[in-house]
Amino acid sequence: MGVERVQDIASLSKDEIPAEFIRSVNEQPGITTVHGEVLEVPTIDMADPDEEKVLRAIVDASRDWGMFQIVNHGVPVEAIAKLQAVGKEFFELPPEEKEVYAKPPGQSVEGYGTKLQKEVEGKKAWVDHLFHNIWPPSAINYRFWPKNPPSYREANEEYANHMHGVVEKLFKSLSLGLGLEGHELKEAAGGDDLVYLLKINYYPPCPRPDLALGVPAHTDMSAFTILVPNHVQGLQAFRDAHWYDVKYIPNAFVIHIGDQLEILSNGKYKSVLHRTTVNKEHTRMSWPVFLEPSPDFVVGPHPKLIDHENPPKYKTKKYGDYVYCKLNKIPQ
Ligand code: SIN
Ligand code: FE2
Repeated sequence: MGVERVQDIASLSKDEIPAEFIRSVNEQPGITTVHGEVLEVPTIDMADPDEEKVLRAIVDASRDWGMFQIVNHGVPVEAIAKLQAVGKEFFELPPEEKEVYAKPPGQSVEGYGTKLQKEVEGKKAWVDHLFHNIWPPSAINYRFWPKNPPSYREANEEYANHMHGVVEKLFKSLSLGLGLEGHELKEAAGGDDLVYLLKINYYPPCPRPDLALGVPAHTDMSAFTILVPNHVQGLQAFRDAHWYDVKYIPNAFVIHIGDQLEILSNGKYKSVLHRTTVNKEHTRMSWPVFLEPSPDFVVGPHPKLIDHENPPKYKTKKYGDYVYCKLNKIPQ
């Protein structure tokens, strides 16, 4: 049986959308977004020569917001443009060419597909996606990497290589911010086996962006996430009990603190609640890279942060078990 892709539904939807995409009133973005105000989450210039200031900004933003943007991050704009171009070309292929990469039934995260989390009230999200690991080489499964366009592989490998510098720098700052040695946080989050999982979100134009959501409210399961969107507005963050649009800054990376860093830091850093809206005329796309432990890697509050005054606030468990519980809505 074929799975219905939102891209195909969108091409048939003129003024209305199918009922399963219409959110309840407490989720509808038309009602629940603070209009006329764009949230300026902390924007951090990574090339600022005052390294102490950069470190403090990263730590403060991770504690107070769980989200920030970085500019002058060292990844060339051409590498970002290539990643985006090949991803867009893939999603513009005919359906049967994309279905070759469809997620196999079962537990596979990787592949082309239409939704990950089971949703309350059976509502559907206005988005299709492609997931595949881009690092380390031992975690790469090339069967989920599109062969078309032919430069897809090169563009993704190049992007993965450019990610390392950003990943190292963020982990180091976040580690020092906890009073740990610079290398300790990454070691506790997966070490050299840390997986870089790329997701491409493809949000087709939607006739009723006031009623539908792209990705519904969630926190990322990763340690943290490095995301680059296209130019179409859509990312929202939950702040002071309200939903705000997050300012789009060309070629900036949006950093989301994810659940694993909240756990590792024993709650000092906060994973950010966010969601996405869709656009009436334009296709929105985004490319998050989730930095996450391999499934058998055990994650819990860092032992050096735990003592009599600071008992663990989170359970210690294998990352794979954490993911299983979250996706199946089993309390952690
Ligand atoms: C997501 O959080 O999964 C998507 C974020 C985005 O598209 O900007
Ligand atoms: Fe997310």
